[in-house]
Amino acid sequence: MIRAVYPGSFDPVTNGHIDIIQRGAKIYDEVIVLVAENISKIPLFTLEERLSMLRESLQHIPNVKVDSFKGLLVDYIKKIDVRIIIRGLRAVSDFEYEFQQALTNKKLYPESETVFLISDIKYTFLSSSMVKEIAKFGGCVEDLVPECVAKKLYEKFNVKR
Ligand code: PNS
Repeated sequence: MIRAVYPGSFDPVTNGHIDIIQRGAKIYDEVIVLVAENISKIPLFTLEERLSMLRESLQHIPNVKVDSFKGLLVDYIKKIDVRIIIRGLRAVSDFEYEFQQALTNKKLYPESETVFLISDIKYTFLSSSMVKEIAKFGGCVEDLVPECVAKKLYEKFNVKR
């Protein structure tokens, strides 16, 4: 059984993330979506909110689990005995940061492998930051995030639609 993790901030999860998770779940026996608790930017959503939106959005995929971690990713995946780290690549602009992260994780845990999945073309522009900005100013995020996330975003920003 080959398991993989898909780590991220998920503040909040977008349809771009869901697409990567769905594709990862077709390749690996189990995908564990890992929400980072200690991210450098201050999140809009609490850890519990990020976990709950992911769980609700992913309930249709049986071989996906949602969990959180604190500290170094490699320490957590060593503990659960997983070596594959999935990351999505949207455009060349993502490459430098992802390259650095993958090499850092490799240095810290040489048995780990980062596997990149190229985003579907329709999500190449999509990011959690973009979605937050659109929702904040009352724009339509309905095609960009799962329904429960759109609802939460409008609630957070006190937007009536
Ligand atoms: O969704 P993001 O913000 O691009 O996710 C980045 C994340 C959370 C996967 C990355 O910052 C991370 O793994 N943080 C945990 C700390 C760590 O292990 N750092 C060393 C690798 S860069």
